[in-house]
Amino acid sequence: MSYAMVLTAFGEPEVLQWQEVTPPVAGPGEVLVRVKAAGVGPTDLNIRAGHLAHVFPQGPGSVLGFEAAGVVERLGDGVDGVAIGDEVAVYLPKQGGYGELVATDVWFAKPPEVSWAVAAALPASAKAALGTLREVAATAGETVVVLGAGGSVGVIAVQLARSFGLRVIAAASERDEQFVRDIGGEFVVYGDGVFDRVAALTDRVDAVVDAAGHGGLTEAVAATGDGSRVVTLADPAGAAAAGARMSDPGPGRAPDALAVTLPMLADGSLRLKTHQELPLTDAAEAHRQLASGASHDKFVLTVD
Ligand SMILES: NC(=O)c1ccc[n+]([C@@H]2O[C@H](COP(=O)([O-])OP(=O)(O)OC[C@H]3O[C@@H](n4cnc5c(N)ncnc54)[C@H](OP(=O)(O)O)[C@@H]3O)[C@@H](O)[C@H]2O)c1
Repeated sequence: MSYAMVLTAFGEPEVLQWQEVTPPVAGPGEVLVRVKAAGVGPTDLNIRAGHLAHVFPQGPGSVLGFEAAGVVERLGDGVDGVAIGDEVAVYLPKQGGYGELVATDVWFAKPPEVSWAVAAALPASAKAALGTLREVAATAGETVVVLGAGGSVGVIAVQLARSFGLRVIAAASERDEQFVRDIGGEFVVYGDGVFDRVAALTDRVDAVVDAAGHGGLTEAVAATGDGSRVVTLADPAGAAAAGARMSDPGPGRAPDALAVTLPMLADGSLRLKTHQELPLTDAAEAHRQLASGASHDKFVLTVD
């Protein structure tokens, strides 16, 4: 048997409880990983509260967590290119990161220079950042606006876009101004009128990545003149109203995201949003702090 922070019901953070669970099994093409660290994302909070029951089939009795890092413990049939004992970062399409063990078919070797916590903070955000840049077909020489540029996804989107040769206008809070400038974005403060502030910097906006979900999509489509070049991760109603795209989180969205970004983390060319670490058994406390707005950091849950 093994243990996990189980989603015992939809509700407040205390529904996450440390319980004995049947250990996951590595199916064909999957690895079984002993978790050293697991990332907490805003989507986890919405799933826990029951707001996304129409999107994710996992309900009470399941284990949250789309991203983790740990040590490979078993190999499923047909797996090659990785060995028992290897250190990996993993994306978890079926969730399960808040557990001692998790099975997945999406992994990449963790470079030794990258800590467990940083490796665990990366996978879901990297997949979303690289995937959305591809969804809007952002190419060298173009200008992209990133809404939510100070967030976990946004900071990666800014840096990937710069590495692809784009000009990046980064909409973030004043608190994040210096950070988004340091990573190569041209700062505008987020919120009402953001596209007026973008227009003061440039009359050319080719694409918009919304990694915040707090409006602005109608203005984004007006700025690009093409709804197919505006994508959101978090505002389906706004996308429908504006004629913009809702990002497709399926397996085809940037399957190479870890292969692209982990080496960048290792060589220092990619920085992540700052994070705080808590023990896995304190997952409810991480959810409380994120929901209250008391912390703007990413949370990573760790296992000794
Ligand atoms: N569909 C998918 O596949 C997928 C995948 C990953 C994430 N997501 C979603 O994408 C969103 C971002 O995720 P994340 O992990 O990057 O979250 P995050 O780290 O909390 O970042 C969100 C950022 O948006 C900023 N923000 C708040 N209001 C804004 C506004 N009006 N305009 C621009 N930025 C604003 C926040 O700033 P403050 O800190 O100042 O509030 C924060 O920096 C979440 O809603 C998440 O659920 C979806």
